[in-house]
Amino acid sequence: MPVITNIEDLKRIHERRVPRMFFDYCESGSWTEQTFRENTSDFDKIRLRQRVAVDMTGRSTKGQMIGQDVAMPVALAPVGLTGMQHADGEMKAARAAELFGVPFTLSTMSINSIEDVAGHTSAPFWFQLYTMRDQDYVSRLIQRAKDANCSALVITLDLQILGQRHKDLKNGLSAPPKLTAKTIANLATKWAWGIEMLSAKRREFGNIVGHVNGISDTSQLGAWTAEQFDPSLDWNKVAKLKEQWGGKVILKGILDAEDAKMALKVGADAIVVSNHGGRQLDGALSSIRALPAILDAVGDQVEVHLDSGIRSGQDVLKALAMGAKGTYIGRAFVYGLGAMGQKGVTEALNVIHKELDTTMALCGETNVNDLGRHNLLVPEDFEGRWQA
Ligand code: GLV
Repeated sequence: MPVITNIEDLKRIHERRVPRMFFDYCESGSWTEQTFRENTSDFDKIRLRQRVAVDMTGRSTKGQMIGQDVAMPVALAPVGLTGMQHADGEMKAARAAELFGVPFTLSTMSINSIEDVAGHTSAPFWFQLYTMRDQDYVSRLIQRAKDANCSALVITLDLQILGQRHKDLKNGLSAPPKLTAKTIANLATKWAWGIEMLSAKRREFGNIVGHVNGISDTSQLGAWTAEQFDPSLDWNKVAKLKEQWGGKVILKGILDAEDAKMALKVGADAIVVSNHGGRQLDGALSSIRALPAILDAVGDQVEVHLDSGIRSGQDVLKALAMGAKGTYIGRAFVYGLGAMGQKGVTEALNVIHKELDTTMALCGETNVNDLGRHNLLVPEDFEGRWQA
């Protein structure tokens, strides 16, 4: 068992272990990948303010997200095809999150179904919804999430159409992988992944297959989204979905203060400042750079979360100190899952927790809820450089 000391260690093992098309799916951004790169490089531009000779005893990373207690304000983000990174991936990641005490968000485009995850966990999880043209299917999906006791509906707003990732097209991304000469050659080097996959509960999209009339082939993600996702989603429809759900709603994919105000109007319980991990609009602002204007617009009226670019506890601290009330990791937990299943997700959470705790201490803070702008040194032009 290798010694894991950081998220990069997990990424290296993930890359060796998982078929190329699924590693690439995780690791890519859209088009030139500028936004994907800046999500991380903009975090690096923010510096931490070191404070010394502060009593460090009794530190706590405990907080709340949408009123739920969390061991640290870090949720697992919804990630499509998680069950292709490791057999029963969503069930295993959800269980790791539950044991750690952080929320797990199940993607509509997961391999394990809502029911699989509910049957494998006891803590309520969050369900992420993509809206489809087939309204009856969406209604049934919402009902399934209610029946599974999901404690929040996370509605993704930035994917009515799919951003282009070159590698996914070139790799012929599909679940399960289509057997071409190229994929067979690659799969032959990933035998441990393959053996586990043979006994997986599912190898295709579990929330879709068997639930949508007239759909026989969902394997191609690009073709499926183009045919099925609802391009007419607007704020009226978002309000209706909220009404239909009747519980806590988190609106994900907000990058602009005007949209944040609309999210407030439809009664979101939280919003997620996100550019979908740099996978949708290439050229958009990094999430951490978009955050301050959104906080200025709505931060005192709605809970503001952030995803995209978080790979360490230092990044978590920076996002919280900038004013976010919660954060999400996507790739960081998927590296762990691909590397070593449930244990790897736990490793990822442990790494991030330890980094957050130690960084907090070295910044002179003992409670995660006390973090603020006083902990940061932010370049003068960080917020004001790109104005509409
Ligand atoms: C879908 O959520 C994707 O980013 O592929």
